[in-house]
Formats: sequence, C-alpha cells, structure tokens
Amino acid sequence: MRAPVLTEEAVRHGLQGCVRALLAAGIAVLLAGCGGSSGGLSGGSPSTTLSPMAAVGRLIFTDTALSASGQQSCATCHVASRAFAGDDGLAVPLGGVQMSLPGLRATPSVMYASFTPAFRLDADGTPSGGFFRDGRAATLADQAQQPFLGVFEMANADAAEVRQRLLARPYLAQFQAVFGAAVLQDPAQTLAAMGAALAAYQTEDPDFHPFNSKFDAFRAGTATLTPAELQGLQIFNDPTRGNCNACHVSTRPSASVPPLFTDFSYDSVGVPRNWAIAANQAGPALPYVPQNGTALGEPGLYGYYDMGLCGPLRSDLATRRLLCGAFKVPTLRNVAVKQNYFHNGAFTQLNDVVSWYATRDTDPQRWYRSVGGAPDRPYNDLPPSLQASINVAELPYNPRLAPTLTAAEINLLVVFLCTLTDGYDPAHADAYATQPQCLQAAAAASQ
Ligand code: HEC
Ligand code: HEC
Repeated sequence: MRAPVLTEEAVRHGLQGCVRALLAAGIAVLLAGCGGSSGGLSGGSPSTTLSPMAAVGRLIFTDTALSASGQQSCATCHVASRAFAGDDGLAVPLGGVQMSLPGLRATPSVMYASFTPAFRLDADGTPSGGFFRDGRAATLADQAQQPFLGVFEMANADAAEVRQRLLARPYLAQFQAVFGAAVLQDPAQTLAAMGAALAAYQTEDPDFHPFNSKFDAFRAGTATLTPAELQGLQIFNDPTRGNCNACHVSTRPSASVPPLFTDFSYDSVGVPRNWAIAANQAGPALPYVPQNGTALGEPGLYGYYDMGLCGPLRSDLATRRLLCGAFKVPTLRNVAVKQNYFHNGAFTQLNDVVSWYATRDTDPQRWYRSVGGAPDRPYNDLPPSLQASINVAELPYNPRLAPTLTAAEINLLVVFLCTLTDGYDPAHADAYATQPQCLQAAAAASQ
C-alpha cells in the first residue's frame, strides 16, 4: 500500500541533533548527561549537545530503577548495538515484575522512528503513520509512556507508581528544572513529561538517525557500491522484480530528509505464525493474552492471533476486516544488525525473509508450519475468514506460477540491504558489514 507523503512535522524534524542551548542554570549537571555515544552504530559521531529535556530523556531511557522489577529500562529491550532493537536472542522480550512474562511482539528498531508521522486515516480510510507496529500510539511521546505500565514490560501498576520511583532518582532536580515542580504533583502529568523527555531524546540524539550508512555515502558521492550491491539496489527498485521500493521507499521523502526505506503505510503480508511466541502456543493462556481466535467460533483456529491494525492490541479498527493482519512497513535501515524480522520475529536471517517474499505463494509448504513442523495451511497466522486482507496483488508476493526472484537475485538483495547499516567509515571499509549474514551474502555474490 502507498501512504501519503510525509507530514510537514516529520519533514521539519532536524537532522542536526540539538540546536537549543543549555540553560545556564543547569549546565554543570546537564553536561554529564549530554552527548557522548551510547555504543550505537553511528560510529563515533562527534558528541552532540542535547537540550535539557532530551538529556533527561537520555537518563530515563537507561534507568532500570523505573521498572517494577528494577531490572528493565527502555535500553534493555532497545539495545544500541542492535540498532536499538532486541539483543536477547528471543522472538519476543521478557518483562514484568519478575522478568518472566513473555511479550507479544518482536522488539523493533527505534532508529529513525522519530521521522514517523502521526497516525491518520485518509479520507478513504487508508491508515498510515503512528507508533508501535499497529500505530496505536499517535505520537512518540504517547508511545514512550506505555512501556512503564505494560504488565509484561516495566510493569508499574499505574502512573502513581512510576512517579514514586522517579521521585527517588538522582536526576529528579534536573527533571524538575525542565518541567517545573507542578508537574510532579500529578502522576499523569509526570508520566506525560517523561514521555516528552524520551521523545526529545530520540528526536535529537543523532545516535538514533546518523544517516551514515554506506548507501548514504554512495548517495553523497563519497563511496562506490560494489557491482553486487548495485545490482541488489536495482532489483530492490525494479517494479518487475523486487518492487521493494513500493513500500520500503529508497528515495528521499523531502529535500531535507534522506531515504527512510518505509512510507509508513500498512500492509497485510501473511507472515508465518511463529511458534516460539508463548502467546501462540496451545495450553493455558497467559492472563494478558485474549483468545480472539477461539472467540471467532470457527473450526480449526488457534487461540490467539495478532492481527495488527484490527486488534487485539488496538480495538478501534476491529470492524475493518480488510485491515486484519496489516502491520506498519518498517524501515530497512540497519536491518542486517537485527536478530529477528517481522512483527512476530518469525525469521532470523535476511535470506529467509527475502526467499519467503519470493516463494510465499509458489511454495507455501516451505514456510507455513504447524507447531510440530508438519505443513500447515497457507497464511496460518490469520484466521481463514479474515484472509481477504492479504496482499496478493503486488510484487514480490504475487501468486504466480514461478517464484518472483531467483536465488541469485535474493542473495543480491541481501547484499544491498547490508549497505543500509550505519557507521560506514571509508577509511575502515573492512570493518563494515561484518555480520555473518552479510559476509555470507557477499561471498555467494562473488562466486
Ligand atoms: C520489554 C521490552 C521493551 C521495553 C522495556 C521497551 N520496549 Fe519499546 N518496544 C518493544 C516492543 C516489543 C515494541 C513493539 C510493540 C508493538 O508494536 O505493540 C516496542 C515499540 C517501541 C517503539 C515504536 C517504534 C515504531 O516504529 O513504532 C518505540 C519508539 C519504543 N518502543 C520506545 C521505547 C521506550 C522509549 C521505552 C522505555 C520507556 C521502551 N520502548 C521500552 C519492546 C520494549
Ligand atoms: C506492499 C508493501 C511491501 C513490499 C512491496 C515489500 N515489503 Fe517488506 N515489509 C512490508 C511490511 C508491511 C513489513 C512488516 C510486516 C510484519 O511485520 O508483519 C515488511 C517487513 C520487511 C522486512 C523485515 C524488517 C524488520 O526489521 O523486521 C524486510 C527485511 C523486508 N520487508 C524486506 C523487503 C524486501 C527485500 C522487499 C522486496 C523484495 C520488500 N520487503 C517488499 C511491506 C512490504
């Protein structure tokens, strides 16, 4: 699906990090929390000055004392070296008071998330933008409040508990200097301010959007792509081959914003069910997992289905049957450093992701498996009565008689995706794209 162009707000988003000066009053304390690198992919970008609000956000982002377990912060799940996606080797992260409760979705990268426009429905009802994989949080600041209260995440009982924890933190004075003392009188306002600080941090700190991949250097004319990388780019953009560009847009959305590799639209692509997710397994349901499959009353359904836009994590679009199974198109920047792919982490290798795209409909038995490994029906992560949403009209997942891409083309696409990793340094080109899957793809392409 094609989304409308980016909103003005997203376009105005600065690329230069913080432009606001530190407030004289706070300078001494604030400097400690400013700039520096978080161990991310940006490759030692010059240390940046964050605004006071963003500097507070940075402290909150890594503070495990704000969780009920005392063991989890935003940074526990969003790990800098993994493009701020998960690093625990699990399909879905664990959290909760005892750190024992499995989540429902794979942790996305939050790099470049601050460019996401607010959630909206077009005049014709087409959704775009918004935060989380189903867009249920309108803004980055709204999104950032929710993990504090998520029962299988940071698991505070309510905003009052979050506020209580914040009151005991060493950076309370810094928080108060930014937001004022009155905010701290009210738990909801306190949490909202924390959300604003986290949003400011993710928006200002270039660690979240360095735009310094090899592809960016190629665009700037400071690097050349290898023949294999160039061929991969061509297949990516070719409407008769990869057609990836139709959703993962490889051109810049505006004069001031480099390509983001997503148009923030939604699509139902029919990713296979991932049996490694506890919520997907048979047996006693976890208390926070609605049995929406069972509730449909059709024969042969599984208990729980994650159907993205049509629920159950959001409920306002539940009657829009053609949105069932639709998830937000993710950016492909830094995709090679992630541990798993798609909303349910069904794949761990890019070659599998792209092979699946190419053969979803020509060889469904290869991909759709029941819990024991036997072939399951196609699109087994959506109830059959709701499968009309699945995109069968567009390449690359077009039910034709032959796969849409050859094995060599699939490999070249992976080679190209490996140029989207940030931190490219022409002086140390041999230190780049060293993930095993990138080395493998490059080796296969050179044979
Ligand atoms: C237990 C692991 C965990 C913790 C802790 C956590 N997140 Fe996440 N985060 C996730 C998962 C999983 C999703 C996707 C959830 C969904 O789509 O419903 C997500 C989604 C997001 C998104 C949306 C990205 C997008 O493209 O829409 C942002 C931004 C984000 N998290 C930031 C944060 C911040 C800020 C914190 C700390 C307040 C935080 N996360 C804490 C796991 C976690
Ligand atoms: C019609 C829109 C569309 C097209 C065309 C498309 N994708 Fe996607 N892509 C999506 C959506 C939507 C998702 C997320 C689906 C989900 O999580 O269930 C996705 C997810 C991915 C992911 C997983 C990223 C992550 O971090 O989890 C990769 C990799 C990917 N696509 C690569 C490609 C490639 C390569 C092509 C071309 C061969 C392509 N896509 C074509 C819509 C599209």
